[in-house]
Amino acid sequence: MLVSAKEMLTKAKAGKYAVGQFNINNLEWTKSILLTAEELKSPVILGVSEGAGKYMCGYKTVVGMVNGMLEELNITVPVALHLDHGSYEGAKACIEAGFSSIMFDGSHYPIEENVEKTKELVAICEEKGLSIEAEVGSIGGEEDGVVGAGECADPNECKMIADLGVTMLAAGIGNIHGKYPDNWEGLSFETLDAVQQKTGDMPLVLHGGTGIPEDMIQKAISLGVSKINVNTECQLSFAEATRKYIEAGKDLEGKGFDPRKLLAPGADAIKATVKEKMELFGSVGKA
Ligand code: 13P
Repeated sequence: MLVSAKEMLTKAKAGKYAVGQFNINNLEWTKSILLTAEELKSPVILGVSEGAGKYMCGYKTVVGMVNGMLEELNITVPVALHLDHGSYEGAKACIEAGFSSIMFDGSHYPIEENVEKTKELVAICEEKGLSIEAEVGSIGGEEDGVVGAGECADPNECKMIADLGVTMLAAGIGNIHGKYPDNWEGLSFETLDAVQQKTGDMPLVLHGGTGIPEDMIQKAISLGVSKINVNTECQLSFAEATRKYIEAGKDLEGKGFDPRKLLAPGADAIKATVKEKMELFGSVGKA
């Protein structure tokens, strides 16, 4: 059964480790992530962007697929199904469809409007027992057409949003979605520290988990980050393994590629990436 992310993140914050959010795009990714979490006895959050939701036929299909896998793969570790960077309408649609967690990204609105919309969604999530992530200060890079400049959040605005009763807070600290450019200045630990001072026990979320050096990840966890999002790194490992398989031309005997064999190396590559991240984040054995 899907669970809200609240308990797993409260435990992570207290235990000084982070739970990974791995984005899903299809059946193979989902299966790989769930099997790895079960094998490593790690809690896990499955992230779904609005674009990925559309690609997978809509949120109800996603909920049906994930619930089916939890049962048929005998998954016993805590799993949350979470909308990633949701719009106000997207958040409502996911609540309706049966997600156990949502992110409302109101960071592009003026702070008053972000507060207003977040407050309304907090009330709905509270009533239904779902977790909710809010964002202050946009994350840089581009994800599903949403472009951010990588700004650092204002700690006072973070407190305003945290006080609305959200479960977790994503605060921009110079992090970027996708690959970091060569001239990236690194995470702003000064901002993170100030946000953590203002928001106390609130689990903080680090987006753009791909390509952040290990020591920075560990320092961020020590300063209150208890959820880390990873997408691009799974994409890169999946693509590389698939490309190698096609180049080797193994199934080309007049029948084209066997679709199951074609996607198997990519699925294995995702397992390896997820394992590496769970070990780095310290969530292994914490289920
Ligand atoms: P990356 O694609 O950089 O791993 O970021 C993922 C993310 O933050 C999803 O919200």
